[in-house]
Amino acid sequence: MNFKQMSAEIEEQMIHFRRRLHEQPELSFQEFQTTKFIFDTLKNTNIKLEVCSSGTGLIGLLEGNGDGPTLAIRADIDALPILEETGLDFTSRIPGIMHACGHDIHTTVLVGTALLLNNIRDSFKGRIKFIFQPAEETMQGAKQMIEEGVFLDPPIDHIVCLHTWPFTEAGKIAVKHDAIMASTNRFEIEVYGVGGHAAHPHKSVDTIPIAAQIVTGLQQIISRTLPPLEPAVLTIGQIHGGTADNIIANNVKLSGTVRTLKTEVSDKIKETIEEISEHTAKAHSGSAKVTYYPGSPPVINNRRMVELLAEAVSENLGEDSLEYLPEASLGGEDFSFYLQHVDGMLFRLGTGNETAASQKGLHNPGIVFDEKSISTGIQAMCSFAVKYLNQ
Ligand code: NI
Repeated sequence: MNFKQMSAEIEEQMIHFRRRLHEQPELSFQEFQTTKFIFDTLKNTNIKLEVCSSGTGLIGLLEGNGDGPTLAIRADIDALPILEETGLDFTSRIPGIMHACGHDIHTTVLVGTALLLNNIRDSFKGRIKFIFQPAEETMQGAKQMIEEGVFLDPPIDHIVCLHTWPFTEAGKIAVKHDAIMASTNRFEIEVYGVGGHAAHPHKSVDTIPIAAQIVTGLQQIISRTLPPLEPAVLTIGQIHGGTADNIIANNVKLSGTVRTLKTEVSDKIKETIEEISEHTAKAHSGSAKVTYYPGSPPVINNRRMVELLAEAVSENLGEDSLEYLPEASLGGEDFSFYLQHVDGMLFRLGTGNETAASQKGLHNPGIVFDEKSISTGIQAMCSFAVKYLNQ
């Protein structure tokens, strides 16, 4: 199967498709035009399409030739509240909204993959479910797709997705065994004391120094309670308390985020945040209440799927086109909600080149994604899917 030639044949159409998406970015759960555009591009195929009841997001089902497993391929389709500064011809026409995470590239790669696999549906067994998911940026979209019954009728055996990666060269695929992205959790700490006159601290319980000690104490969780080789981040992003210079604040609110690669590490951090906060406050005659908001779990790649991807990429794009990432990213991805139901894999699509603009980080208002990556993504996804379904 010559995926290189097949993807070259639709490359121009796909770049045109991507630029249209880029010009018309839509925020999470507002992807109505994007959904319609995907639907219209795929409607004259053998793919059975179903738009989600919210009107944003859709699922396509393509039957192959005979019995076999069901592979789901997911792309996220939403944009970010960022004012674009790339100066591209096809720059966002919606002020303050931009495809700065490359979800327009993800969507285009999945549409291209769907078009090609539709043409060669006799050459693989089983079936493919194409998931165009809204609202990844707010971490709510995968939950919607699961509630809509994405795992039913037919059930899914494995799931795969890709994400743009400016730090890998365009034309290349990057992957990693096991953990590739982190769990994200939020926490809030309310410290309570007794307010009073700034001149009479002995008649009050001052929550500002208590909060300061809690902040310092929490910094020791990573360095003193976790194994030294265990990656984790604890950031306190906000602290609010007090109303005037001559008033002792009777409460302070702190909040932040915790990123880990293992659920048990996140659980340990949660427990320790509670202990340090409550006991520190108590030691100074105050009290503290911790609320922990679980976000998305870590993304853990299935080893067999990573091996199949490595084989598919080597055979179709060449051995040099695959690189193994030395470490996971502590960013989060709501793809992990699917992985609570079935095994799967997330891999990286290189979008960098020699220009500085292409090497800016994701979510940067000036980032420019190398469009060469679209064809690479389509080839990688198609060859992986066929290999997986015929194994
Ligand atoms: Ni993203």
